[in-house]
Amino acid sequence: VEKALSPTRGDRMMRLFQDHASRARDLGISRQLIEDDLFSGDSIVLGGKRLANFGLCSYLGLGDDERLKEGAHRAIDKYGTSYSSSIAYTAIPLYRDLSERLATIFGASVVLAPTTTLAHLAALPVLVRPGDQVLVDSVAHASLQTATQLLQANGIPVQKVPHNDLAAAETAVSEFDGAGRVWLLIDGVYSMHGDLAAAAELDALLDRHPRLHVYCDDAHGFGWDGEHGRGTYLARSSWHDRLVVAAGLSKSFGATGGVIAMPDPQLADLVELVGPPLTFGGPIPPASLGAAVASADIHLSEELAERQSEFKDRIDLVNKLAADMGIPLSALDPTPIWYLELGSYESMAKLFLGMRDDGFFLNGSAFPVVPHGQAGLRFTITLYNSARQIEDMLTCLHERSRPLFAPTEIEIDLTAEAAVPEKPTAT
Ligand SMILES: Cc1ncc(COP(=O)(O)O)c(C=O)c1O
Repeated sequence: VEKALSPTRGDRMMRLFQDHASRARDLGISRQLIEDDLFSGDSIVLGGKRLANFGLCSYLGLGDDERLKEGAHRAIDKYGTSYSSSIAYTAIPLYRDLSERLATIFGASVVLAPTTTLAHLAALPVLVRPGDQVLVDSVAHASLQTATQLLQANGIPVQKVPHNDLAAAETAVSEFDGAGRVWLLIDGVYSMHGDLAAAAELDALLDRHPRLHVYCDDAHGFGWDGEHGRGTYLARSSWHDRLVVAAGLSKSFGATGGVIAMPDPQLADLVELVGPPLTFGGPIPPASLGAAVASADIHLSEELAERQSEFKDRIDLVNKLAADMGIPLSALDPTPIWYLELGSYESMAKLFLGMRDDGFFLNGSAFPVVPHGQAGLRFTITLYNSARQIEDMLTCLHERSRPLFAPTEIEIDLTAEAAVPEKPTAT
Protein backbone atom coordinates (compact mmCIF):
# COMPACT_ATOMS: atom_id res chain seq x y z
CA VAL A 1 0.00 0.00 0.00
CA GLU A 2 1.44 3.33 -1.00
CA LYS A 3 1.47 5.86 1.79
CA ALA A 4 1.02 9.50 0.85
CA LEU A 5 4.19 11.34 1.75
CA SER A 6 3.58 14.61 3.53
CA PRO A 7 5.75 17.41 2.14
CA THR A 8 8.78 18.22 4.26
CA ARG A 9 9.47 21.72 5.51
CA GLY A 10 12.14 21.99 2.80
CA ASP A 11 9.58 21.04 0.10
CA ARG A 12 7.06 23.56 1.36
CA MET A 13 9.65 26.29 1.41
CA MET A 14 10.77 25.43 -2.10
CA ARG A 15 7.15 25.57 -3.32
CA LEU A 16 6.64 28.98 -1.76
CA PHE A 17 9.88 30.17 -3.34
CA GLN A 18 8.72 28.81 -6.71
CA ASP A 19 5.35 30.52 -6.38
CA HIS A 20 6.92 33.88 -5.47
CA ALA A 21 9.69 33.70 -8.06
CA SER A 22 7.40 32.81 -10.94
CA ARG A 23 4.81 35.44 -9.97
CA ALA A 24 7.56 38.05 -9.69
CA ARG A 25 8.95 37.12 -13.10
CA ASP A 26 5.49 37.30 -14.70
CA LEU A 27 4.86 40.73 -13.15
CA GLY A 28 8.23 42.04 -14.35
CA ILE A 29 9.54 42.43 -10.79
CA SER A 30 12.46 40.04 -11.05
CA ARG A 31 14.61 38.07 -13.52
CA GLN A 32 14.32 40.79 -16.16
CA LEU A 33 16.83 41.38 -18.93
CA ILE A 34 17.63 45.04 -19.34
CA GLU A 35 17.10 46.33 -22.87
CA ASP A 36 20.04 48.75 -22.94
CA ASP A 37 22.71 48.33 -25.58
CA LEU A 38 25.15 50.32 -23.47
CA PHE A 39 25.57 50.40 -19.71
CA SER A 40 24.57 53.61 -18.04
CA GLY A 41 24.92 53.40 -14.26
CA ASP A 42 22.01 55.61 -13.26
CA SER A 43 19.27 54.02 -15.34
CA ILE A 44 18.09 50.91 -17.19
CA VAL A 45 15.53 50.25 -19.89
CA LEU A 46 12.86 47.69 -18.98
CA GLY A 47 9.70 47.05 -20.97
CA GLY A 48 10.64 49.87 -23.35
CA LYS A 49 10.79 52.42 -20.52
CA ARG A 50 13.87 54.11 -19.06
CA LEU A 51 13.92 53.76 -15.27
CA ALA A 52 16.20 55.35 -12.70
CA ASN A 53 18.16 52.41 -11.33
CA PHE A 54 18.04 51.94 -7.56
CA GLY A 55 19.05 48.30 -7.66
CA LEU A 56 22.75 48.38 -8.48
CA CYS A 57 25.56 47.52 -6.03
CA SER A 58 28.41 49.10 -7.97
CA TYR A 59 28.61 51.55 -5.08
CA LEU A 60 31.64 53.61 -6.08
CA GLY A 61 30.66 53.70 -9.75
CA LEU A 62 33.64 51.62 -10.83
CA GLY A 63 31.73 49.05 -12.90
CA ASP A 64 32.43 50.89 -16.15
CA ASP A 65 35.56 52.80 -15.14
CA GLU A 66 37.94 53.15 -18.11
CA ARG A 67 40.93 51.99 -16.04
CA LEU A 68 39.17 48.80 -14.99
CA LYS A 69 38.08 48.16 -18.57
CA GLU A 70 41.65 48.65 -19.78
CA GLY A 71 42.91 46.28 -17.07
CA ALA A 72 40.41 43.67 -18.27
CA HIS A 73 41.34 44.22 -21.95
CA ARG A 74 45.06 43.89 -21.21
CA ALA A 75 44.48 40.68 -19.27
CA ILE A 76 42.44 39.20 -22.13
CA ASP A 77 45.08 40.22 -24.69
CA LYS A 78 47.75 38.46 -22.65
CA TYR A 79 45.98 35.39 -21.30
CA GLY A 80 42.78 34.97 -23.33
CA THR A 81 39.23 34.94 -22.06
CA SER A 82 39.78 31.85 -19.95
CA TYR A 83 42.87 30.35 -18.38
CA SER A 84 41.31 26.98 -17.73
CA SER A 85 43.17 25.36 -14.88
CA SER A 86 42.53 24.93 -11.18
CA ILE A 87 44.86 27.20 -9.23
CA ALA A 88 45.94 23.97 -7.50
CA TYR A 89 47.98 23.35 -10.67
CA THR A 90 48.85 26.71 -12.22
CA ALA A 91 47.54 30.29 -12.21
CA ILE A 92 48.31 33.41 -14.23
CA PRO A 93 50.57 36.03 -12.56
CA LEU A 94 47.60 38.39 -12.11
CA TYR A 95 46.65 36.15 -9.15
CA ARG A 96 49.83 37.25 -7.40
CA ASP A 97 49.38 40.90 -8.46
CA LEU A 98 45.86 40.98 -7.03
CA SER A 99 46.75 39.07 -3.83
CA GLU A 100 49.60 41.45 -3.05
CA ARG A 101 47.40 44.50 -3.50
CA LEU A 102 44.51 43.06 -1.48
CA ALA A 103 46.92 42.14 1.33
CA THR A 104 47.95 45.82 1.46
CA ILE A 105 44.32 46.96 1.31
CA PHE A 106 43.38 44.72 4.25
CA GLY A 107 46.64 44.94 6.16
CA ALA A 108 46.38 41.14 6.51
CA SER A 109 46.99 37.87 4.68
CA VAL A 110 44.47 37.10 1.95
CA VAL A 111 43.15 34.20 -0.09
CA LEU A 112 41.33 34.70 -3.39
CA ALA A 113 38.27 32.76 -4.53
CA PRO A 114 36.07 33.05 -7.65
CA THR A 115 33.12 34.40 -5.61
CA THR A 116 32.31 35.31 -2.00
CA THR A 117 30.12 32.21 -1.71
CA LEU A 118 33.04 30.02 -2.76
CA ALA A 119 35.30 31.96 -0.37
CA HIS A 120 33.04 30.83 2.52
CA LEU A 121 32.94 27.27 1.21
CA ALA A 122 36.74 27.28 0.98
CA ALA A 123 37.51 28.91 4.30
CA LEU A 124 34.93 27.69 6.81
CA PRO A 125 35.54 23.92 6.51
CA VAL A 126 39.25 24.61 7.05
CA LEU A 127 38.89 27.15 9.87
CA VAL A 128 36.19 25.36 11.88
CA ARG A 129 37.60 22.19 13.45
CA PRO A 130 36.00 19.16 15.17
CA GLY A 131 34.99 20.14 18.70
CA ASP A 132 34.16 23.72 17.64
CA GLN A 133 30.68 25.18 17.63
CA VAL A 134 29.17 27.63 15.14
CA LEU A 135 26.75 30.44 15.94
CA VAL A 136 25.24 32.14 12.92
CA ASP A 137 23.23 35.37 12.92
CA SER A 138 19.64 34.48 12.00
CA VAL A 139 19.63 36.85 9.01
CA ALA A 140 23.24 36.38 7.89
CA HIS A 141 23.51 36.04 4.12
CA ALA A 142 22.32 32.84 2.42
CA SER A 143 25.90 32.08 1.34
CA LEU A 144 26.91 31.79 5.02
CA GLN A 145 23.82 29.75 5.89
CA THR A 146 24.70 27.36 3.04
CA ALA A 147 28.26 27.01 4.35
CA THR A 148 26.87 26.08 7.78
CA GLN A 149 25.00 23.15 6.19
CA LEU A 150 28.35 21.83 5.01
CA LEU A 151 29.77 22.27 8.50
CA GLN A 152 26.79 20.46 10.00
CA ALA A 153 27.37 17.59 7.60
CA ASN A 154 30.92 17.49 9.01
CA GLY A 155 29.44 17.05 12.52
CA ILE A 156 29.83 20.65 13.72
CA PRO A 157 26.92 21.87 15.88
CA VAL A 158 25.35 24.99 14.40
CA GLN A 159 23.02 27.31 16.30
CA LYS A 160 21.20 30.38 14.97
CA VAL A 161 21.40 33.45 17.20
CA PRO A 162 18.89 36.33 17.07
CA HIS A 163 19.87 39.08 14.67
CA ASN A 164 22.53 41.49 15.98
CA ASP A 165 21.77 40.35 19.53
CA LEU A 166 25.16 40.43 21.20
CA ALA A 167 23.80 39.48 24.61
CA ALA A 168 22.34 36.28 23.14
CA ALA A 169 25.64 35.54 21.37
CA GLU A 170 27.57 36.12 24.58
CA THR A 171 25.26 33.80 26.53
CA ALA A 172 25.73 31.09 23.90
CA VAL A 173 29.53 31.49 24.07
CA SER A 174 29.51 31.35 27.88
CA GLU A 175 27.29 28.28 27.92
CA PHE A 176 29.35 26.33 25.39
CA ASP A 177 30.85 23.41 27.29
CA GLY A 178 32.76 21.76 24.43
CA ALA A 179 36.53 21.54 24.20
CA GLY A 180 36.88 23.67 21.06
CA ARG A 181 36.21 27.21 19.94
CA VAL A 182 33.02 29.13 19.13
CA TRP A 183 32.70 30.78 15.72
CA LEU A 184 30.22 33.61 15.28
CA LEU A 185 29.22 34.11 11.63
CA ILE A 186 27.84 37.52 10.74
CA ASP A 187 27.48 40.02 7.88
CA GLY A 188 29.24 43.39 8.00
CA VAL A 189 26.32 45.06 6.19
CA TYR A 190 23.11 43.03 6.14
CA SER A 191 22.20 42.80 2.50
CA MET A 192 18.44 43.40 2.69
CA HIS A 193 17.92 45.88 5.54
CA GLY A 194 21.30 47.57 5.23
CA ASP A 195 22.01 47.53 8.95
CA LEU A 196 25.54 47.18 10.27
CA ALA A 197 27.15 44.60 12.53
CA ALA A 198 28.09 45.96 15.94
CA ALA A 199 31.82 45.81 15.15
CA ALA A 200 33.18 47.76 18.13
CA GLU A 201 31.07 45.75 20.61
CA LEU A 202 32.14 42.50 18.94
CA ASP A 203 35.75 43.58 19.33
CA ALA A 204 35.16 43.85 23.09
CA LEU A 205 33.35 40.49 23.07
CA LEU A 206 36.41 38.90 21.45
CA ASP A 207 38.56 40.33 24.24
CA ARG A 208 36.23 38.98 26.93
CA HIS A 209 35.95 35.47 25.46
CA PRO A 210 39.22 33.87 24.36
CA ARG A 211 37.32 30.97 22.76
CA LEU A 212 35.32 33.24 20.48
CA HIS A 213 36.22 33.73 16.81
CA VAL A 214 34.33 36.11 14.51
CA TYR A 215 33.88 35.44 10.77
CA CYS A 216 32.39 38.49 9.05
CA ASP A 217 31.04 38.55 5.48
CA ASP A 218 31.53 42.20 4.49
CA ALA A 219 30.58 41.76 0.82
CA HIS A 220 28.42 44.92 0.82
CA GLY A 221 30.75 46.95 3.03
CA PHE A 222 33.99 46.40 1.11
CA GLY A 223 35.37 49.24 -1.04
CA TRP A 224 33.22 52.26 -0.20
CA ASP A 225 34.18 52.28 3.50
CA GLY A 226 37.32 51.92 5.61
CA GLU A 227 40.99 52.59 5.00
CA HIS A 228 41.86 51.60 1.41
CA GLY A 229 38.26 50.32 1.24
CA ARG A 230 38.82 47.44 3.67
CA GLY A 231 35.15 47.58 4.65
CA THR A 232 32.61 48.68 7.21
CA TYR A 233 33.63 46.13 9.83
CA LEU A 234 37.31 47.11 9.92
CA ALA A 235 36.31 50.78 9.70
CA ARG A 236 34.68 50.31 13.12
CA SER A 237 37.07 47.88 14.78
CA SER A 238 40.67 46.83 14.35
CA TRP A 239 42.28 43.56 13.41
CA HIS A 240 42.02 40.90 16.05
CA ASP A 241 43.90 37.61 15.92
CA ARG A 242 40.54 35.81 16.10
CA LEU A 243 38.83 37.79 13.34
CA VAL A 244 38.35 36.67 9.71
CA VAL A 245 36.80 38.99 7.11
CA ALA A 246 35.40 37.80 3.78
CA ALA A 247 34.55 40.25 1.02
CA GLY A 248 33.37 40.34 -2.57
CA LEU A 249 34.91 42.10 -5.53
CA SER A 250 31.67 42.18 -7.53
CA LYS A 251 29.93 45.06 -5.77
CA SER A 252 31.73 48.30 -4.86
CA PHE A 253 35.03 47.04 -6.29
CA GLY A 254 33.73 46.87 -9.87
CA ALA A 255 35.15 43.42 -10.74
CA THR A 256 34.25 39.84 -9.76
CA GLY A 257 35.72 37.48 -7.21
CA GLY A 258 35.88 36.85 -3.50
CA VAL A 259 38.56 37.33 -0.87
CA ILE A 260 39.14 36.09 2.67
CA ALA A 261 41.44 38.11 4.94
CA MET A 262 42.95 37.09 8.28
CA PRO A 263 45.95 38.15 10.34
CA ASP A 264 47.59 34.71 10.50
CA PRO A 265 49.59 34.02 7.28
CA GLN A 266 49.91 30.29 8.07
CA LEU A 267 46.16 29.91 8.41
CA ALA A 268 45.60 31.82 5.17
CA ASP A 269 48.13 29.56 3.48
CA LEU A 270 46.26 26.49 4.76
CA VAL A 271 42.92 27.80 3.42
CA GLU A 272 44.49 28.40 0.01
CA LEU A 273 46.16 25.00 0.04
CA VAL A 274 43.19 22.84 1.04
CA GLY A 275 40.00 24.99 0.79
CA PRO A 276 37.93 22.58 -1.34
CA PRO A 277 36.66 24.92 -4.12
CA LEU A 278 40.19 26.26 -4.56
CA THR A 279 41.36 22.79 -5.57
CA PHE A 280 38.26 21.34 -7.19
CA GLY A 281 37.06 24.41 -9.10
CA GLY A 282 38.24 26.90 -11.69
CA PRO A 283 39.96 30.25 -11.22
CA ILE A 284 38.86 33.89 -11.37
CA PRO A 285 38.87 34.65 -15.13
CA PRO A 286 41.66 36.86 -16.56
CA ALA A 287 39.35 39.81 -17.36
CA SER A 288 38.07 39.93 -13.77
CA LEU A 289 41.60 39.69 -12.36
CA GLY A 290 42.78 42.49 -14.67
CA ALA A 291 39.84 44.72 -13.66
CA ALA A 292 40.35 43.91 -9.97
CA VAL A 293 44.05 44.81 -10.10
CA ALA A 294 43.17 48.18 -11.66
CA SER A 295 40.47 48.71 -9.02
CA ALA A 296 42.93 47.80 -6.23
CA ASP A 297 45.31 50.47 -7.56
CA ILE A 298 42.51 53.04 -7.27
CA HIS A 299 41.77 51.82 -3.73
CA LEU A 300 45.43 52.30 -2.83
CA SER A 301 45.52 55.81 -4.30
CA GLU A 302 44.34 59.15 -2.92
CA GLU A 303 41.35 59.07 -5.25
CA LEU A 304 39.59 56.58 -2.98
CA ALA A 305 39.07 59.02 -0.10
CA GLU A 306 37.36 61.49 -2.47
CA ARG A 307 35.06 58.86 -3.89
CA GLN A 308 34.22 57.48 -0.45
CA SER A 309 33.47 60.92 0.92
CA GLU A 310 31.25 61.88 -2.03
CA PHE A 311 29.43 58.58 -1.68
CA LYS A 312 28.91 58.94 2.08
CA ASP A 313 27.34 62.36 1.46
CA ARG A 314 24.86 60.63 -0.85
CA ILE A 315 24.11 58.00 1.86
CA ASP A 316 23.57 60.78 4.42
CA LEU A 317 21.24 62.51 1.99
CA VAL A 318 19.01 59.42 1.73
CA ASN A 319 18.93 59.05 5.51
CA LYS A 320 18.12 62.70 6.05
CA LEU A 321 15.40 62.88 3.40
CA ALA A 322 13.83 59.58 4.50
CA ALA A 323 13.76 60.74 8.13
CA ASP A 324 12.37 64.19 7.20
CA MET A 325 9.67 62.67 5.02
CA GLY A 326 8.90 59.99 7.62
CA ILE A 327 9.34 57.03 5.28
CA PRO A 328 9.35 54.03 7.65
CA LEU A 329 12.54 52.38 6.37
CA SER A 330 13.76 49.42 8.44
CA ALA A 331 17.14 50.93 9.29
CA LEU A 332 18.87 54.23 8.73
CA ASP A 333 22.42 53.01 9.27
CA PRO A 334 25.11 54.74 7.19
CA THR A 335 25.15 52.12 4.42
CA PRO A 336 23.92 52.20 0.79
CA ILE A 337 21.06 49.69 1.33
CA TRP A 338 17.55 50.39 2.64
CA TYR A 339 14.39 48.34 3.05
CA LEU A 340 10.75 49.36 3.18
CA GLU A 341 8.82 46.46 4.66
CA LEU A 342 5.23 46.16 3.48
CA GLY A 343 4.26 42.71 4.71
CA SER A 344 2.20 41.06 2.00
CA TYR A 345 3.40 40.06 -1.43
CA GLU A 346 0.50 41.99 -2.96
CA SER A 347 1.44 45.29 -1.28
CA MET A 348 5.04 44.82 -2.40
CA ALA A 349 3.97 44.14 -6.00
CA LYS A 350 1.60 47.13 -6.00
CA LEU A 351 4.25 49.54 -4.79
CA PHE A 352 6.91 48.09 -7.11
CA LEU A 353 4.64 48.55 -10.14
CA GLY A 354 3.63 52.06 -9.03
CA MET A 355 7.26 53.10 -8.66
CA ARG A 356 8.03 51.58 -12.05
CA ASP A 357 5.16 53.51 -13.65
CA ASP A 358 6.72 56.69 -12.24
CA GLY A 359 10.13 55.79 -13.67
CA PHE A 360 11.97 54.16 -10.75
CA PHE A 361 13.37 50.64 -10.45
CA LEU A 362 13.73 49.23 -6.92
CA ASN A 363 14.24 45.63 -5.82
CA GLY A 364 10.86 43.99 -5.06
CA SER A 365 11.68 41.36 -2.42
CA ALA A 366 9.81 38.49 -0.81
CA PHE A 367 10.43 35.08 0.75
CA PRO A 368 13.02 33.49 0.76
CA VAL A 369 15.10 36.64 0.32
CA VAL A 370 13.34 38.01 3.41
CA PRO A 371 11.24 36.03 5.94
CA HIS A 372 7.72 35.10 4.84
CA GLY A 373 5.26 37.94 5.54
CA GLN A 374 7.96 40.62 5.38
CA ALA A 375 7.85 41.37 1.65
CA GLY A 376 8.95 44.86 0.70
CA LEU A 377 11.07 47.07 -1.51
CA ARG A 378 14.82 47.19 -1.08
CA PHE A 379 16.83 49.92 -2.72
CA THR A 380 20.50 50.72 -3.07
CA ILE A 381 22.32 53.80 -4.28
CA THR A 382 25.59 54.15 -6.15
CA LEU A 383 27.74 57.11 -7.14
CA TYR A 384 25.89 56.96 -10.46
CA ASN A 385 22.71 58.21 -8.77
CA SER A 386 22.63 62.00 -8.57
CA ALA A 387 21.32 63.87 -5.54
CA ARG A 388 18.39 65.05 -7.67
CA GLN A 389 17.52 61.54 -8.76
CA ILE A 390 17.64 60.36 -5.13
CA GLU A 391 15.34 63.16 -4.00
CA ASP A 392 12.85 62.46 -6.80
CA MET A 393 12.80 58.76 -6.01
CA LEU A 394 12.26 59.27 -2.27
CA THR A 395 9.51 61.82 -2.90
CA CYS A 396 7.75 59.31 -5.11
CA LEU A 397 8.30 56.45 -2.63
CA HIS A 398 6.87 58.60 0.12
CA GLU A 399 3.78 59.55 -1.90
CA ARG A 400 3.11 56.06 -3.14
CA SER A 401 3.77 54.20 0.11
CA ARG A 402 1.93 56.58 2.43
CA PRO A 403 -1.55 55.13 1.76
CA LEU A 404 -0.19 51.65 2.51
CA PHE A 405 0.78 52.72 6.03
CA ALA A 406 -2.11 55.09 6.76
CA PRO A 407 -3.87 54.14 9.99
CA THR A 408 -7.45 53.02 9.53
CA GLU A 409 -9.72 55.92 10.38
CA ILE A 410 -12.32 54.93 12.95
CA GLU A 411 -15.00 57.55 13.57
CA ILE A 412 -15.93 57.73 17.21
CA ASP A 413 -18.88 59.84 18.26
CA LEU A 414 -17.80 61.39 21.55
CA THR A 415 -20.99 63.22 22.41
CA ALA A 416 -22.19 62.23 25.87
CA GLU A 417 -25.35 60.47 24.67
CA ALA A 418 -23.51 58.50 22.05
CA ALA A 419 -20.61 57.53 24.33
CA VAL A 420 -22.76 56.21 27.21
CA PRO A 421 -26.13 54.85 26.14
CA GLU A 422 -28.75 55.43 28.84
CA LYS A 423 -30.14 51.96 28.61
CA PRO A 424 -29.01 48.94 26.69
CA THR A 425 -31.03 48.87 23.50
CA ALA A 426 -32.71 45.66 22.54
CA THR A 427 -32.49 44.84 18.84
C1 LIG B 1 26.47 39.52 2.20
C2 LIG B 1 26.67 38.75 0.93
N1 LIG B 1 27.58 37.76 0.90
C3 LIG B 1 27.80 37.04 -0.22
C4 LIG B 1 27.11 37.28 -1.38
C5 LIG B 1 27.38 36.45 -2.59
O1 LIG B 1 28.41 37.02 -3.29
P1 LIG B 1 29.08 36.28 -4.53
O2 LIG B 1 28.19 36.53 -5.67
O3 LIG B 1 30.40 36.93 -4.67
O4 LIG B 1 29.16 34.84 -4.15
C6 LIG B 1 26.16 38.29 -1.41
C7 LIG B 1 25.39 38.53 -2.65
O5 LIG B 1 25.03 39.42 -3.15
C8 LIG B 1 25.94 39.05 -0.23
O6 LIG B 1 25.02 40.02 -0.21
